[in-house]
Amino acid sequence: RNFSTSLAAQKEVQNVTVFGAGLMGAGIAQVLAHKGGYNVTLADVSEKATAGGQSIISKSLTRIFKKSMADKSAEEQAEAVKKVVDSIKVSTDGAGAVKETDLVIEAIIENVGIKQELFKFLDGKAPKDAIFASNTSSLSIKDVAATISEERKALFGGFHAFNPVPQMKLIEIVKTDQTSKDAFESLTAVAKKMGKVPVSCVDSPGFIVNRLLVPYMLEAIRLVERGEATKEDVDTAMKLGAGYPMGPFELADLVGLDTLSHISSGWRDSRVSTGEISAEAVKESQLLESLVKEGKTGKKSGKGGFHPQ
Ligand code: 3HC
Repeated sequence: RNFSTSLAAQKEVQNVTVFGAGLMGAGIAQVLAHKGGYNVTLADVSEKATAGGQSIISKSLTRIFKKSMADKSAEEQAEAVKKVVDSIKVSTDGAGAVKETDLVIEAIIENVGIKQELFKFLDGKAPKDAIFASNTSSLSIKDVAATISEERKALFGGFHAFNPVPQMKLIEIVKTDQTSKDAFESLTAVAKKMGKVPVSCVDSPGFIVNRLLVPYMLEAIRLVERGEATKEDVDTAMKLGAGYPMGPFELADLVGLDTLSHISSGWRDSRVSTGEISAEAVKESQLLESLVKEGKTGKKSGKGGFHPQ
């Protein structure tokens, strides 16, 4: 392929539709609009959900502009927040939200069947050349893409952001064996335009960050369960001894104990028997499971966790 056809094939992304107005989807929409200058639509199933997303974005921008516009009045800061929030369209009409989209980023519930259903629906509604990406943190990108057409599979990849999205600099761009070079490069270009640093990974469990972080957090919890140290000392140790910004228990509260439990049980069920993950790395923790059962899931829910607020 010569240079000019390659350029023609690489899509220039202008309109981005984000599905899922939770913490991750809202964060991604915020940075796409505020830092990337994209035309962004944030879509979810209900107006309550999209309003929740707007509220997350508004709170985060308030925090950002309070610092970056410290010399300006509170009214001017509030106006700047409103300007960005208002620039992000919200939608509860999935088909309408992708009618003219160049890129769909999915950040809905971490359930492969529900994601497949959404992508199958969108495959029939979005322009033929629109790129599709999933923000899944633990599912196989190939599995998530299983229900879409072969043509779209070439335009499908992982686009994995980190919590808190406005603050964390990384995006993992994940390619399957079907992801085209052009789609991969378009996703990389979007991450860069958002002011993020992209890294590339194949479609393996947890990609890079969660592959390392999930077994690490689980081992920290089991270490405390075995009575070897207190959680406070483990957090202090990892902050002062390894230079991590948060200890593993603070991090588990941030990620959500429900999320940590969901990822690890998913891997126990589907990635251990395939040999992709060792049983030891994702061994169940009773302490984690009992906190989740009691609904004490951490910062997101505002309830419990290892360091209740
Ligand atoms: N929106 C906007 N700004 C935010 C923010 C948000 N949601 N959260 C934090 N900030 C900003 C603060 O305003 C502050 O800004 P400044 O640098 O201009 O002063 C800055 O971030 C630092 O915040 P704080 O002073 O309150 O606190 P810290 O210095 O402790 O930093 C932190 C907070 C950035 C969260 C830091 O502790 C950190 O990096 N922790 C590790 C987080 C991490 O590992 N995340 C990945 C989790 S794994 C994941 O997401 C994968 C998923 O798939 C499971």
